[in-house]
Parts: sequence; structure tokens; C-alpha cells
Amino acid sequence: MKDPRIITGFSRLSKDQKVDLVAGQVKKPDQYAEILRSAWHRDPLAQKLYDEFSENTLSNYYFPYGVSPNFLINGKFYFVPMVIEESSVVAAASGAAKFWAERGGFHSEVISMKKIGQIHFLWHGDIEPLKNSFPEIRKIMLNRTHALTINMQKRGGGIRGIELIDMTDKIPEYYQIKGIFDTRDSMGANFINSCLEEFADILKEFVADDPRFNGTNLDVIMSILSNYTPDCRVHTWVECDLSHHQGFDDIFSDEEFIRRFETAVNIARVDVNRATTHNKGIFNGIDSVSLATGNDFRALEACGHTWAARDGQYRSLSEANLTDGKFRFSLEIPMALGTVGGLTNLHPLAKFSLKLLGNPGAEELMMIASAVGLANNYAAVKSLVTKGIQKGHMKMHLFNILNVFNADEQEKRQAVEYFRHEKVSYNSVSRFLEGIR
Ligand code: MEV
Repeated sequence: MKDPRIITGFSRLSKDQKVDLVAGQVKKPDQYAEILRSAWHRDPLAQKLYDEFSENTLSNYYFPYGVSPNFLINGKFYFVPMVIEESSVVAAASGAAKFWAERGGFHSEVISMKKIGQIHFLWHGDIEPLKNSFPEIRKIMLNRTHALTINMQKRGGGIRGIELIDMTDKIPEYYQIKGIFDTRDSMGANFINSCLEEFADILKEFVADDPRFNGTNLDVIMSILSNYTPDCRVHTWVECDLSHHQGFDDIFSDEEFIRRFETAVNIARVDVNRATTHNKGIFNGIDSVSLATGNDFRALEACGHTWAARDGQYRSLSEANLTDGKFRFSLEIPMALGTVGGLTNLHPLAKFSLKLLGNPGAEELMMIASAVGLANNYAAVKSLVTKGIQKGHMKMHLFNILNVFNADEQEKRQAVEYFRHEKVSYNSVSRFLEGIR
């Protein structure tokens, strides 16, 4: 018997019907239906665009769109757009950007731009004939995907390799075809997946048609890009000579500060608990640039964390050291970003973000996003090894707490003044408001 809780045909309801049905699941449905509708775009055509990004769309979910000025990267200044809900991330990035702009800024280079996709298949039979015919199969794959790749080739990208890989030491009869791609300024997921599905069809046809494969059985399990892109990687760093640049901190001397900073980063290189939080701080910056430019932050996170564990232990993505009086703080990370295709040219704010950044290509955006990641990492570790994270963080969080208590503008002004020299906490703000109300 069918479970009566299972809804059928939900996607076919009108948007109003969906809103009413869903708001009806909570207490005060009218109030919540109104909240959902109140976040619709005032222009129905613009709203339609947002609705169509996804499915079963009821409303829009607002996140702050902020900007960090003063990012000096490879000699060029940027206002970097950041979309993030967490207080103090944009302030931290801005502070670090300004600090490093006065010390030569961020330096960055893209190491390579190759991405991969795989056909995972089982081969029941002798693999030798397949190995022997693979050069021929590869040629057919390259020829038959010409229509798919021609535009990408015009932009300087395309298929860079097709390899047969034996994985039978992991799973019996398991092999892969690994495609290597350069997707230039696009993230390239659709391009890679389309090529792979075509490769898989070619492989199946080839095996079915050729008498050498009589008696063997090919079972293509799946064809999909890999979000792990170790060869699409960027290296970004800041550095300065301690004798030329002073003023890292007002509690510790520059030398003491750098030593503490270096130790904190080294801890994140050996301790998995700290490494996870350390890297989360890096992704605060990277994800917010990714969101602001219409990129897929889940892909970046998945890839970055896999890279962080590449030698078998999960480690800090950044490194710090002081050698011969020179401090250097660096981040090397794979990231598959795009500046064409996907949401980048569709979402009005993503479009604006890219314009604000001077319409960068994917390589330049990788340098920008990694610089913001490094800036956030620098700011977080600096706070941790000096005054602690909570003081600054809670100051930035003050407005959120005041909003929870429905503070009016006058109360907010008084609170900002009062908490200039007091510790911010949920309780202290509650007590303060009780006192003045
Ligand atoms: C908070 O979003 C990020 C930090 O925890 C990062 C860190 O601990 O390095 C502050």
C-alpha cells in the first residue's frame, strides 16, 4: 500500500500552490506564506530567472553581498566581492588585504589547468586485446567528439589525453578510462561529461563490433568528471623581510608574533582536528568569492579537502615559515573555477562581480579566490595567536544578537558605544538591553 505521506505531483503545482502547501506544514501558515512571498523579486521576470536556477522554488534566500577593497594581487588592485553569512569574514579579509597591500601584496601563479573525467567499467575477459586496440579506440574517441570539442579548441582548450587504467588490484575486473581536459575559462562540467558519455558509447560499440572481443563482456558502470583536480592548481603567497616591514602586532614583537604564527600553522600541518578548522578558515574566503561569482563552492571544498589529505593525513593547506629574516605564508590548492558558462553569465550579481573584478579569466579568478582564502587564513591565525578570536568576532556579531532581541536603532547606537570596551556575549547584550529598556 502506498504511504499516504508521499506527495506526488508536487513539482507540477503552481508556485503559489507550493507556497501555501509548504507554509501549511508549520504553525501560523499565513504569516510564513507572507514571509516566503515577501522575498520575491519585485520584477516578476527577474524572479522567473531565479526560480529557474533550481526546482520547486518557493522564494529567494538572502545572503549578504559584500566587498573587500585593497586586494593587491600580482601588482593589480581589486575590490573583491564576497557572499557570506558569517560575521567578521569580510572584515577579516579586508583587514588582511590592506595589511599585505602595504607589504607588496599577494603573489600568485597558476601551476596548471588540467581537469579529469573517468569512465569506470568492468571488463569480464582478457584485457590484452583491449590494451592492444586502445590507440585505435583513442583515435576514434578524438575524431567522434570533434563536434563537441571544436569550440573549446578554438578557445585554446580541449581533450589533452585519454588513458586506459588498470584498477584490478582494487576491485576485480575494474578498469578506467581517464580523460584529461583543458576547459579554459569554463568550469567545464558539462563539456567533460558530454565527452565522457560519447567515449563510453564508442567503447561499447567498438567492443560489440570487433570479433577480437568475442566472449568478453564490457559493463560500463558510470561516466563522470572528477571534482578532484590536482592538476588545476594555484599557488599564492605573501612574503616580507622582517627588517623592512614591522608592525605585525601590538602585543608581541614581530619576531615573537611570527614564531607563534608559524607554530600555529605547523600545528595545523600535523593535527587533523586543528587542520580542519584551519582549512575551514581558508574556505571562508574561497567560498565567498566562489558564491559571489556564480561558481560551485561544493566542488571547490570537496577538491580542496581531498588535496589536503593527499599524503594520507589531512593537513593544513597553507604553510608559514621564517627563513633568514624573511617571512613567507603560502597556499597551494587545486580549484576548478569558471568565468564563463553556468551561473556566471546568468545571475545578475555574479555578472556584476566578474565585471567588478575586470572580467578575469578562470586563471585570474583562481589567483583572486586563493588570495582571499590566504587573507582570511592569515587574519584568523593572527587573531588566534594574539588577542584570541572571540573579541573581534563577537564585536562583529553584536548586530546579530541585537537583532535577535529586536533592538531599535537608538538601542543599537547605545550598545555599540557601551560594548566598545566590554565583552560581547548573548547574556551581556541581554543584560544591557534590560538595563536600558
Ligand atoms: C571561523 O569561521 C574560522 C576560524 O575558526 C578559522 C581558524 O580557526 O583558523 C576562525
